[in-house]
Amino acid sequence: MSLHVGIIMDGNGRWATRQGLSRAEGHRRGAAVVRRIVEAAPGLGVGTLTLFAFSSDNWKRPGREVSWLMRLFRDYLRDEAARCVETGVRLTVIGRRDRLGPTLRSAIERTEALTAGGATLHLRIAIDYSARDAILRAAQCLTADTVPSRESFSRLLAIVDHGGSHAPPVDLLIRTGGERRLSDFLLWECAYAELCFLPVMWPDFGPELFGQAVSDYHGRERRYGALPDAAAS
Ligand code: IPE
Ligand code: IPE
Ligand code: MG
Repeated sequence: MSLHVGIIMDGNGRWATRQGLSRAEGHRRGAAVVRRIVEAAPGLGVGTLTLFAFSSDNWKRPGREVSWLMRLFRDYLRDEAARCVETGVRLTVIGRRDRLGPTLRSAIERTEALTAGGATLHLRIAIDYSARDAILRAAQCLTADTVPSRESFSRLLAIVDHGGSHAPPVDLLIRTGGERRLSDFLLWECAYAELCFLPVMWPDFGPELFGQAVSDYHGRERRYGALPDAAAS
């Protein structure tokens, strides 16, 4: 069964500062890592990969850093669209779109349209994303005469967040950069996710560490509140 992996790509700024480089350079290196991770994902049994690129709280950063990031996202989409088509990657962007600039918005729409047929990997990039805001927006769509199920609510979440077809629950959540928090990422989808917090900064992450995290995941027992197999029988 293919996995849904979520990644909080944290640590670009600290990585750069430690090397005496600008934070912008850290983000640029971070984008190069994204390419390698996306390439490695299908071979590791990952069918859906959701990457946290920009949180709704990241608007609080200095304007210069925000503009640099927005330009980086636009360039990434422009440069990667053809490769995604070639490799069967369907790319969608989740999060709010109304606060993004028109060039980035049209790059998103263009890439989503071009890659819509991809069946090898569903790559979801979270930009201006807040899980709490998404849950609130989905809740606003509920009507008094329908009792939502978890499945129907997940579908609503996909609609309010432009995710297209709804993503399965997250199996494995990886956060680089040493912090042990979710920072408002996929709160609903991570209900039973296995968590993996790594001290390594995102620019130093790569396919090898990704592979290790996935194989560590396969060694875990997911019980969903039930008893371990041995105890139950
Ligand atoms: C993650 O790296 C990327 C974004 C939030 C856009 P940071 O920029 O948060 O890097 P640190 O945490 O300051 O090192
Ligand atoms: C989370 O990282 C958001 C992304 C990686 C895009 P932050 O650096 O914004 O999170 P906090 O502020 O440390 O919680
Ligand atoms: Mg950070």
